[in-house]
Amino acid sequence: MKAVTWHGKRDVRVDTVPDPRIESPTDAVIRITSTGVCGSDLHLYEVLGPFMTEGDVLGHEPMGVVEEVGAEVTSLKPGDRVVVPFNISCGHCFMCDRGLQSQCETTQVTEQGKGASLFGYTKLYGQVPGGQAEYLRVPQAQYGPIKVPDGPPDDRFVYLSDVLPTAWQAVEYAEIPAGGSVVVFGLGPIGQMCARVALHKGAGQVIGIDLVPERLARAEAHGATVIDTRDHDDIGDAVRALTAGRGADSVIDAVGMEAHGAPAARLTQNLVALLPQAAGALITEKAGIDRLSVLYAAIDAVRRGGTISLSGVYGGMIDPMPMMELFDKQIRLHMGQANVRRWIDEIVPLLSGSEDPLGVDDFATHRLPLQDAPKAYEMFQKKQHGAQKILLQP
Ligand SMILES: NC(=O)c1ccc[n+]([C@@H]2O[C@H](COP(=O)([O-])OP(=O)(O)OC[C@H]3O[C@@H](n4cnc5c(N)ncnc54)[C@H](O)[C@@H]3O)[C@@H](O)[C@H]2O)c1
Ligand SMILES: [Zn+2]
Ligand SMILES: [Zn+2]
Repeated sequence: MKAVTWHGKRDVRVDTVPDPRIESPTDAVIRITSTGVCGSDLHLYEVLGPFMTEGDVLGHEPMGVVEEVGAEVTSLKPGDRVVVPFNISCGHCFMCDRGLQSQCETTQVTEQGKGASLFGYTKLYGQVPGGQAEYLRVPQAQYGPIKVPDGPPDDRFVYLSDVLPTAWQAVEYAEIPAGGSVVVFGLGPIGQMCARVALHKGAGQVIGIDLVPERLARAEAHGATVIDTRDHDDIGDAVRALTAGRGADSVIDAVGMEAHGAPAARLTQNLVALLPQAAGALITEKAGIDRLSVLYAAIDAVRRGGTISLSGVYGGMIDPMPMMELFDKQIRLHMGQANVRRWIDEIVPLLSGSEDPLGVDDFATHRLPLQDAPKAYEMFQKKQHGAQKILLQP
């Protein structure tokens, strides 16, 4: 089959690889019809290279049709239409029972000291072949895949794999008071959806922050007040000016470790990329070279006693945190990979009617054949041609 594979920094290709098959009675194999490119894939494309192996199959936002199931998968049958969550979870362990599917104890990558396995996401997360491919082996298929009805286009449902539950969790973790204010840093797919979900759930004021004009315009069209970072030296001041001088009740960081505007860290990351793989991996993980500029801005922009919810991915081990500021302002922090399955039952009703309250039907700006994946990655990373969300179609 054809699959999108990692070959090095900013080098992804479409290769022919062996077809996946059932390896365990809890597996299923699906034929993929649509599969998203995510901001998390851009981390693999750029800074997380030291954790990748040449030939790794990328992708974690797939949906498609069940081809074959293992003997213990009784809830699915060939022909079912399914969306596959990006984390692989069992549904019956201590963590899954508590709605912490991204920490699933059955699929945890214990030799790396990490949480649940993820599709297409480095050896830290199990090196499981991903979903930007014609076919996908889905482990723990007795629990993971979400059955969706035939009929509507894939766009209706495909974001259940990641964007929707990630945004939903980010908003839940932000604990926005009823009618309160929330700042969303980063208006990529995750931040856009956070802004929409926050308004849907009753936030009084959503302030979206980015530096890409069409992303700002899109958030504004969906009811957010926007701040263009290029127009302000001090983002905290700009937020306070909109929030009675106090700062926002809640702040969501939907940028993560590749924030624009931190040249020193950028330099370090480029240097690490030149090191031999093992040394590079060590430095990326242990030396904490994240670009923390957005996290710092979030700490500044939140009001005293407020909450910061991090959905942007961070990967450093010894990042310097301004503890005096966090302690003095009495800030709550809540973060992590989305526990996809936990939120699905709350989200599905919003995708079921003829209304489209979260605007998923026209959320993708580009739909490209799988073959064009290298172009898609480049376009999405460089934010060319108005690319905001790209779906690949095998
Ligand atoms: N927690 C999870 O489960 C989970 C799931 C999916 C994605 N993510 C993470 O969420 C983040 C966003 O993903 P995405 O798909 O929206 O990606 P994206 O790269 O399209 O979005 C990032 C946005 O941040 C903006 N940005 C960069 N620097 C900024 C700054 N200094 N101030 C304000 N905005 C800035 C960029 O212009 C871009 O629009 C990534 O870190 C991704 O890894 C986390
Ligand atoms: Zn994703
Ligand atoms: Zn589990």
